[in-house]
Amino acid sequence: MSKSFPEKGTPWEDLKSQMATMAADDIDWRHGRNGYNVFFAGEDVLKVVKEAYGMFMSENGLNQGAFPSLKTMEDEVVEMALDLFKAPDGAAGSMSSGGTESILLAVKACRDRAASLGKDISCANMIIPYSGHPAFNKAAHLMGIEIIRTPIDETTRLPDLAAYEAAINEDTILMVGSAPAFPTGVVEQIPEMSEMARTRDLWFHVDACVGGYFAPFAERCGVELPAYNFTNPGVWSMSADLHKFGYAAKGASTVLYRSEELMKHQYTDVDCWPSGRMVTPTLAGTRPGGGIAAAWAVMNYLGQEGYTAKAQVILDTRAKMEAGLKRLGFEVYGDSKLMIINFGVEGVELYGLWGALHARGWWPGATSQPPALHMMLTPAHEAAMDDFLVDLEAALAEVKAGKADAAEEVRYS
Ligand SMILES: Cc1ncc(COP(=O)(O)O)c(C=O)c1O
Repeated sequence: MSKSFPEKGTPWEDLKSQMATMAADDIDWRHGRNGYNVFFAGEDVLKVVKEAYGMFMSENGLNQGAFPSLKTMEDEVVEMALDLFKAPDGAAGSMSSGGTESILLAVKACRDRAASLGKDISCANMIIPYSGHPAFNKAAHLMGIEIIRTPIDETTRLPDLAAYEAAINEDTILMVGSAPAFPTGVVEQIPEMSEMARTRDLWFHVDACVGGYFAPFAERCGVELPAYNFTNPGVWSMSADLHKFGYAAKGASTVLYRSEELMKHQYTDVDCWPSGRMVTPTLAGTRPGGGIAAAWAVMNYLGQEGYTAKAQVILDTRAKMEAGLKRLGFEVYGDSKLMIINFGVEGVELYGLWGALHARGWWPGATSQPPALHMMLTPAHEAAMDDFLVDLEAALAEVKAGKADAAEEVRYS
């Protein structure tokens, strides 16, 4: 232990400058040097988000009776989300702290509903393609559900539908597809997958955490995607993160249900302590008012036109990047039409390439299968793309010449 809790306080100005010094080695996301983690949509958006967050930073979303402002804002965020994802009348939802919490909540709702219908959930399972997010493993572990992962095709990176269907058995309570999956960037075959669930009266969840607030605007730019939302009658719930391509402050996601009847199983209702009955819609007790306010503000600030304009910038950047990658001899894996790009070169060592880019001030993402790089493009990458391609060319030459220092490990944590 090297730092003790200081006896005396320190002036804010000193602390502020210490914190700025600490941030000096952080990745420069304002200039698009990151492959993931930060979704920077410009200084004006950041200002709106920061000010809105600051205005409601002390308010508590746990007690919306005391803060009707937060209730109005959360209700409106959910209504805007349901509208965006074409939910039917009677649909419902809530905000949560992020994709992982939204997924935990949907899995909880599914499990508790199954139990309420008399299903033996002690041996329940969920089916999810190999491409699905590890948050489902967390949920499975916490709730005592078996998780069955089914293969994806090596070339298209899409789930193998026959294997997905074959995995269904009498203990299945939940089926999952992604729109898009994080590693592949590909929107999965949600119409076919959700229909497999619907015909068996099983719950189907679309994980649109990463792409939910991007895909509808990419479609407005002319990108063609399979239907990934509530227009599929088999889709019973969706998760979509506002703190990613919604450009909101960290700590904001939406979890949505086809009906209130499905959503009611998300709640926890406890009346076994001296303070009386406590009903909470999400996993949290205290909920940051700032996260709700910032999401409401940015959605209204940008509007669908603003999000579509950002999507167009990203799609143009993607086209430029893809052309540059092909020129350098890289292969782009899978037919991701959105903002995620997964690319590599046969015979070129991933750790070396990642290390050589990192040495040049970049922090790209990576995949283990295939061993390749992975970038999630944001509006900030528009100005960065020329430099990125120059550095990528140099990094590639260095690795081919055996001169690069390989990264010790490339992982998401
Ligand atoms: C498809 C998908 N689902 C879920 C998550 C988890 O979201 P969070 O990191 O906000 O918990 C992510 C995060 O990148 C994701 O890409």
